Parts: sequence; C-alpha cells; structure tokens
Amino acid sequence: MVKVNESYLKLQAGYLFPEISKRVNAFSEKNPDAKIIRLGIGDVVKPLVPSVVKSFHEGIDELADESTFKGYGPENGYAFLRDLVVENDFPNLGISSDEIFISDGSKCDSGNIQEIFGMDNVIAISDPAYPVYVDTNVMAGRTGNADANGYYEGLVYMPVTVENDFTPVPPEEAVDLIYLCSPNNPTGMALKRADLENWVAYAKKNKAIILFDAAYEAYISDDDVPHSIYEIEGAKECAIEFRSFSKTAGFTGVRCGLIVVPKELKGTTEAGEEISIHQLWNRRHSTKFNGASYAVQKAAAAVYSEEGRKEVKEIISFYMENAKIIGDALSKLGVEVYGGVNAPYVWLKTPGNVSSWEFFDKLLNDCHIVGTPGSGFGPSGEGYFRLSAFGHRENILEAVERMQKNLSL
Ligand code: MLT
Repeated sequence: MVKVNESYLKLQAGYLFPEISKRVNAFSEKNPDAKIIRLGIGDVVKPLVPSVVKSFHEGIDELADESTFKGYGPENGYAFLRDLVVENDFPNLGISSDEIFISDGSKCDSGNIQEIFGMDNVIAISDPAYPVYVDTNVMAGRTGNADANGYYEGLVYMPVTVENDFTPVPPEEAVDLIYLCSPNNPTGMALKRADLENWVAYAKKNKAIILFDAAYEAYISDDDVPHSIYEIEGAKECAIEFRSFSKTAGFTGVRCGLIVVPKELKGTTEAGEEISIHQLWNRRHSTKFNGASYAVQKAAAAVYSEEGRKEVKEIISFYMENAKIIGDALSKLGVEVYGGVNAPYVWLKTPGNVSSWEFFDKLLNDCHIVGTPGSGFGPSGEGYFRLSAFGHRENILEAVERMQKNLSL
C-alpha cells in the first residue's frame, strides 16, 4: 500500500477558512432564514477597476488573434510587468527586474518558499500568523507534533499580543528563517521603521533570512510604516519580500502576485559552500511553474497606470472606511480594538475573556455575523478575534447595527 506523507497528519483540524465555512454551513442549515454577514475570510467584494478590466480584455483579444497570440510566457513573468513593479513598488531601492518573479498569488509563494531551504533550519514565526507559514513547514516535516496548546515542536514562536503592542521581537536565540507580515494579517497592525531596522540588524548578525509578507502594503497610511523591507538599509542581503495584487486590486479570484528574491541572498550547503538563494528559487520556480497567464499579467500591469492607481486607491479607501466604521462601533461598545488603520483587518480582544471560538459562536448566533477566531491563527491569538473590512457598505453598516442591538457582552 502507498505510504502517505505523515507530516500532514500532524496538522491541526482543517485549514482555518474551510473549517469556518463548515461551521457556518451547519448554522445555515439549522437557521435557513438567517441572513448571514460574512466578515471572516479577507476576500474582496468590489469588482476589478475599469482600467484593469480594459487591459484584461485587451490581453484576451491578443490571445484570440493569430498575429498576437502567445503560448508559454517567461516563467518569471513578462518583462513589461516586472519593469513596472520595480519602477512603482521598489523605486530607487536597488531592486532589478530580474529579481522579481511573477506568480499566481502570494499564498503559493509564501507556502512554497520553504522548499528551497534545508530541513534543519530554525524557523521563527509570529504568533498569531497567516496559517500558511506554519502549515507548510509542518507539511514539509520541519516540526514535531503540536502540543495541547497548539505549539509545534521545533518552531520558535514570537508572540504578538497587546502586551508587546503586537510587535514581534527578535528571539534571544539565533534563528535561520523569520516570517514577518506587515501590515499584519491577522492583527491589522504594522511594523514601524525602527522595528524593521531592528529585524534587519538581527538577521544580518545571525545570517538569517527574513521572509517578509507585504501583501497588505497598499493599505498603509502611516508615514512611519515602510512599504517595503528594502527601504531598510542592508535588507537586500537578508530578506525576501512577497507582494500580491489580491488585496491591492481585487485579484483574489484572478490570481497574481510576486516575490522579490535579491541576488545578494546567500545560503550554505552542509559542507559550507555558499549558494545563491536567487538561483535556487529560479530553478524551483521554472521547474514547477509555467508563468502566470498573459491576460492576467496585462490586467496587473494596468494597476500601475495613472488611472489604475487612482481607481485602486479609491477602493482601498472604501475598505479602510469600512474598517473605521467597524472599529469605532466596537470601541463604543466598550470592546478593545486594534488594527484597522494600516490594514483592512480589525483585531479585537474577545469581551468577557471568552475564547475565540466561543466568541465566534456568539457573534454567529446573536448577530448572524461570521468573523475569524484569533486562535485559528496560532496559540497567542486565543482571546482575540478578527473582523475583515472587505464588505459591501450596507452589510458593514448592518453588521454594526446588529452588534449594537444584539450582542450581549
Ligand atoms: C485571510 O482572510 O486571512 C486571507 O484572505 C487569506 C489569504 O489571503 O489567503
């Protein structure tokens, strides 16, 4: 009989969002008339902006015409898009377009990146965190089992809670790979320049690599929050950055993202030989991926046009206004609220010290609202809860009204 990868058996329950759907479906079956408002998974609701749609159509038209048809494209993405990314996202930061790898989304990149690193690296992960970071390392066999509190043996957890203002602090011990996400999913908080400087100094000192997830970069409003880790001097020698068009331009269903792997990054073999991380990723990417669709890359390029930038900005402001409505309403109810300023997520302390899943049930039963239990993002998320600001305005307003009327705290 075929043997399975037993590392998968160490994973806890289902992946968070399918697990939530399962519970919501069970609730709906029992309460078929309940009009459920979903503020759980961070999925956009606004359609693609006009300039993106136009460019997407043009891409399709080119594919429909023999004289402009394209088959396989460059695995790393078309130069027209990589050049725009460098010019707009990393201006004057010393990033070159061949250090950009276009992909079908940041979830895959942040999950796949661990493949090019050795099995005995020590890995530090903020807790709570986007579940992909932990789960993919568990699947790869880099951890032992999870203990009763949900901590996997072999990982270094960096708690981010109200006690440290949701700022992961470099661990005492030397670690090799560090997952950081800023603006953060799930806490909605963002790392300031001084925090990132601290991290870059730590990584350089320990010859570690920071895996910097900047999927929510477009939501930054504070001047003191860097948009890219490469704004910090020396980061090109110690950081990989992930970017996504999903939350920036409504591409959650279209799929397009990118990863920056600087050529300066080095790792070593067991024997101590220095190896280029860029070359390894290039090898991995071109072996396992055949490039994002041409039309999708055309659509993504339009995000950088003058019109595109303006249109996308309006939508981001719309979601951030939602975040403010949710945050203000909860504060008025006396709930402790965090995030929602540089990220489209509001992170709240569960009132009355109930557990995250208890609050999930309460919100669903009392208000017919779906959110995400903080503990689903890691043990230190227990006692917290995430509400997504991606929603239609009328639903956000109704959600807030329901909480004010029906939520017994
Ligand atoms: C979330 O809700 O955390 C995100 O939508 C998940 C993702 O981006 O994959």
